[in-house]
Amino acid sequence: MPRNLERAELFVLICQSSDCKKKGAKALAKQAKKTLKEEGMFRQSKILKTRCTGNCKRAAICGVLPSNTWLEKATESDVDKLIKDEIKALKSSD
Ligand code: FES
Repeated sequence: MPRNLERAELFVLICQSSDCKKKGAKALAKQAKKTLKEEGMFRQSKILKTRCTGNCKRAAICGVLPSNTWLEKATESDVDKLIKDEIKALKSSD
């Protein structure tokens, strides 16, 4: 198993291709990192910057695993809420 992946409980996927970048994808990645740190989940998580997912008209695209929940036209506050909801779901399943 590649380093840092085996201990990840939560994955945040953020498209970093051109249309999503034009719609603020870089800021979304920064927000994801900030939220994970604030929630104390940064070490147990992995932010994956993806290539185009084929949803460019819905840019910016962001998703979380394990719930496989995706946002379209995501904003920084949407990403913050998505991650917090995912953490809450993970903790309630413990
Ligand atoms: S550029 Fe992000 S889905 Fe295509």
